[in-house]
Amino acid sequence: MTGVDDPSFLCDIGPADRRIDPRDFFTSESPNREPGIVGRLDKLPPYLFSAIGAAKAKALAEGASVVDLGIGDPDRPTPAALVEVMARAVADPRCHRYPAQRGDAGLKQAIALWLEKRHRVRVDPVNQVLVLVGSKEGLGHLPMSCLEEGDNVLVPDLGYPVYGQATILAGGEPRTFGLRAENGFLPDLEELSGLMDARTRLLFLNYPNNPTGAVAGSDFWKRVTVLCRERKVILVNDAAYLEVSLDGSRPASLLPSADLDADWVIELHSLSKMFNMTGWRIAFAAGHAEVVGNLARVKESIDSGVFTAVQTTAAHALGEAFDGLLESVLAAYPARRAVMVAALENAGFEVFDSAATFYVWCRVPENEKSLDFCRRALEEIGLVVTPGPGFGPGGEGWFRISLTASDEDVAEGARRIGGWR
Ligand SMILES: Cc1ncc(COP(=O)(O)O)c(C=O)c1O
Repeated sequence: MTGVDDPSFLCDIGPADRRIDPRDFFTSESPNREPGIVGRLDKLPPYLFSAIGAAKAKALAEGASVVDLGIGDPDRPTPAALVEVMARAVADPRCHRYPAQRGDAGLKQAIALWLEKRHRVRVDPVNQVLVLVGSKEGLGHLPMSCLEEGDNVLVPDLGYPVYGQATILAGGEPRTFGLRAENGFLPDLEELSGLMDARTRLLFLNYPNNPTGAVAGSDFWKRVTVLCRERKVILVNDAAYLEVSLDGSRPASLLPSADLDADWVIELHSLSKMFNMTGWRIAFAAGHAEVVGNLARVKESIDSGVFTAVQTTAAHALGEAFDGLLESVLAAYPARRAVMVAALENAGFEVFDSAATFYVWCRVPENEKSLDFCRRALEEIGLVVTPGPGFGPGGEGWFRISLTASDEDVAEGARRIGGWR
């Protein structure tokens, strides 16, 4: 199954509709089950997007002009300076052999230096850093490295679907907690505490947040770190959007708020959105050595690391070139956001105020369901936006607009939605 920001999501036809008796789920009572019936897969949640995907395909087939602001996949190319480094590395025979399993030593060193310079946190590049095949891969394998069958994991309701899906695939139980507008889309720590029990192993958080754009400050990170320390729960921050800030502010990483030798924390960073590199598949995890090491052990059984030429390029991107590159990548978004937010607000939509991520999180008109609204936007004005419930039931009443289409498309989308309702 894909994540909602993979380009395929709008056309996903969803999982097969077959179901098995839950009592057969991984029990020895079902030794004769059909090979094609796999309880764990059937427990994966269905996708809400098939109806919109079909409507989009139909509109395109009928020749309608469709502006797609659904997907969070940067429209602009990877900076030329990085493509040049990659081209040289591809020609280097040292890159043609199996990569180092936990990551190239040069890249891990560059990551440690970058974390120190950018986020004021010191990590041991050997034991506290792990290179990933994109952060989705790390998030997907993490529960497998921490859970025993039947353990539970706290996942945000409003969140990237991979947290819950990976938990199910690892034989765990996802327990959802709400992210509410009145709390700035941060979790209520009392609610979190009430959900934790002796079998809670992991807490997934994602700040800056997709889809809302909410940001967590270091005070919040300190409080949630203390809670997880007390309750012996591994704290994960999915930091895929940490550097995507449209007003020059620096959202806080979890890592400086924790004691990395004592607290069971891990943060996953990604080069995908930082450098328009979604197709390259490169990210990294940093945190407590044992949490990082256990994830590395799972990966040793599954993948053989990232192409060394890609790792060489990543080391360059995080090094000297970083500030200028990031600035040039982010330069595209503030004007797009301003145009879109102005159009939405003029049309009476309520927009969640945020300068983080390249999404605009917006309320649907009163008395309308998110999915109906998004379907109507496609049918009436040829605009694809993502319905909030695609991120969990807590997204009902909201929709998400992505700013990762061309300036022209964002302006056209703003014009269409601004003059509609
Ligand atoms: C919240 C969040 N986390 C992680 C990812 C995965 O990013 P990648 O695997 O490209 O690093 C995405 C992708 O859209 C995302 O939205």
